[in-house]
Amino acid sequence: MTRVWRSAALLVWAAIGAAGVSTFAAGRQEGNAAQSNPEELEKGKQTFELTCSSCHGLDGGGAMGPNIQGIPFRLGADSVANIIKNGMPGGMPAFGGQLDAHEIKQIVGYLLTLTRKDEGKVTGDPEAGKKVYASSGCARCHMIAGSGGDSGPELSTVGQSRGPNYLRNTILYPGTDLPQEHVFLESGGRLEFLFVRVVTKDGRTLEGTRVAEDSLHIVFEDAEGNLHSFRKDQLRELQKEPGKSTMPSMKGKLTDTEMNDLVAYLASLKGAP
Ligand code: HEC
Ligand code: HEC
Repeated sequence: MTRVWRSAALLVWAAIGAAGVSTFAAGRQEGNAAQSNPEELEKGKQTFELTCSSCHGLDGGGAMGPNIQGIPFRLGADSVANIIKNGMPGGMPAFGGQLDAHEIKQIVGYLLTLTRKDEGKVTGDPEAGKKVYASSGCARCHMIAGSGGDSGPELSTVGQSRGPNYLRNTILYPGTDLPQEHVFLESGGRLEFLFVRVVTKDGRTLEGTRVAEDSLHIVFEDAEGNLHSFRKDQLRELQKEPGKSTMPSMKGKLTDTEMNDLVAYLASLKGAP
């Protein structure tokens, strides 16, 4: 394991050397200790997954935020550290108050090991994928071109806003199990499909996607499509868990071919021609 990490890090440094990009020299020297040490890389990975992946994707390949795989190669380690610390006007939060310089350096080191990929390639057959979509019960919660349920986001143009890697990750790891709740809240990410769990005064636990809420009531839809409506004073507990999802994971339920076809179908959805 250690050896793998080491050689990955070595490759990264070789690549910098080969590119001969002198602006990275400073970052490279002072970042060297952090970046070549597997423990530091692992820390960087953890912080990244906790803090950044909700917007930039689990693999840095982009979600509502841009693809940032290997971005220190392009912008330099120092400017990336600055971006993390100070944020950017187009929706990138400032993390200076939350992460110290060392943690930021660990993230930058980790970003270097993510080789820049594009958004992923479509390898499947969209026509076959349409059948997989139909037989997997997706339409129960998702609307495409006017048909389907609406407890999940409409997918009519999802191929325009999301790349194949993101689509694949969502289907395998809906909402993801990462403890990213507060990041979600700060970002306003998918709050319209907020996951809620309630415990009633008589001890029943129910969960689902929020449909409506005001100060006295909450309405949500469970994974089977049943609507539940409660007065809040009937509840013992009301928890909101952004980052969780009623969407069932397809992990292990589809063959690789079916998965590729499904991704191809979703990637082909770009709205009316
Ligand atoms: C709330 C969503 C969100 C979170 C969380 C977030 N980012 Fe961003 N990030 C963005 C958006 C949106 C942009 C594009 C901003 C712009 O163009 O002004 C961006 C831009 C960036 C850029 C510059 C990309 C470029 O091509 O110029 C870097 C680097 C970056 N983010 C790194 C991170 C890191 C590292 C973390 C975790 C510490 C993080 N971001 C967390 C939304 C987010
Ligand atoms: C029980 C309801 C439910 C089912 C069934 C379901 N989803 Fe979802 N889906 C959701 C919810 C809720 C969200 C939004 C929260 C989230 O991202 O997990 C979502 C999000 C998504 C997204 C992300 C959309 C975006 O713009 O970010 C995609 C893609 C998606 N689902 C595809 C599918 C596919 C394909 C299937 C069938 C294999 C499926 N879903 C089955 C409820 C469902």
